[in-house]
Amino acid sequence: SRLWRGVIAEYADRLPAHLQERVVTLGEGGTPLVPAPALSERTGADVYVKVEGMNPTGSFKDRGMTTAISAAAGRGAQAVVCASTGNTSASAAAYATRAGMVCAVLVPDGKIAMGKLSQAVAHGARLLQVDGNFDDCLVAARKLADTHPVELVNSVNPDRIQGQKTAAFEIVDALGDAPDIHVLPVGNAGNIAAYWKGFTEYADAGVASRTPTVWGFQAAGAAPIVKGHPVDEPDTIATAIRIGNPASWQLAEEARDSSGGVIEAVTDEQILAAHRILSAEVGVFVEPASAAGVAGLLARHERGLVPAGARITITVTGHGLKDPGWALRTPDGGEVEPVRVSADVVSIADALSL
Ligand code: F0G
Repeated sequence: SRLWRGVIAEYADRLPAHLQERVVTLGEGGTPLVPAPALSERTGADVYVKVEGMNPTGSFKDRGMTTAISAAAGRGAQAVVCASTGNTSASAAAYATRAGMVCAVLVPDGKIAMGKLSQAVAHGARLLQVDGNFDDCLVAARKLADTHPVELVNSVNPDRIQGQKTAAFEIVDALGDAPDIHVLPVGNAGNIAAYWKGFTEYADAGVASRTPTVWGFQAAGAAPIVKGHPVDEPDTIATAIRIGNPASWQLAEEARDSSGGVIEAVTDEQILAAHRILSAEVGVFVEPASAAGVAGLLARHERGLVPAGARITITVTGHGLKDPGWALRTPDGGEVEPVRVSADVVSIADALSL
């Protein structure tokens, strides 16, 4: 059969055995690696985007949630909890429902995108809007899991990283070898750790001839790793990465340093400009946080730091429909006004200047 079976079955030989006991999957993974000529032309490199918004709940979180929920199910867990800026909660809610588990989610009040909130509610999560930011939510979720019969499914759970590393495998499988540089947004830093693990395992196994250099990008108002200290009141329009004290901070630094890479900051303006290029030129609609990698690539190109001809892959982490309002804003902060016409061909052709 050519049916894609989800990342646990597809990469069974490279994942721990305890994940196979009770597999909970929605068919995640197998996402497109799309050539991005608009970005190649701008940078003089050979650029591809890994479109993680094509996962079942619209973000890369599904790769780690199939493994985290399967492991929890294998242990007989009845309930899971996560802190989230939105995507983790949407994914946890979907996979927990599939497994017949209760799912509690803690989200920062008023700071998660509507699409993600809708998903968590639709999938039946016990959603609590916490008076605090993501970092406060994560501290509370960890304490709850320590003291109550509920399993934590944030990326500090090692089963999450196991699943998320499969994205790196897919990139190497698609290209035939590791890229020269892999680029991605950084929030709580689980994903950069997972990619590094995946690329390293493939190089160690001889599937790839080498590991790529890893470039991670945080939002300037939420850039603790760049600054070298936690940020008390992180702020950015890219709510998915509005995080001041990433749980996998050390693993992110390890990925950066072992790969000879960088972790840098991009401004909200750079993020929105990259978001527009992705939508209007590449043809891939993402949520703002997902554009941080592209923003970072373009910023480094402007500084002359993108090697000509390098093969570069960029993870775009979540779907544009999660947080669609940004597309209806103009670069100067105005609103895009729809053009209204009567239903006759003459006025339609006229409006289209045909
Ligand atoms: N992009 C998107 C769309 C995200 O939702 C996240 C994280 C990241 C990038 C950063 O990934 O945390 O592994 O460094 N979202 C988490 C959540 C925090 O709760 O959904 P990271």
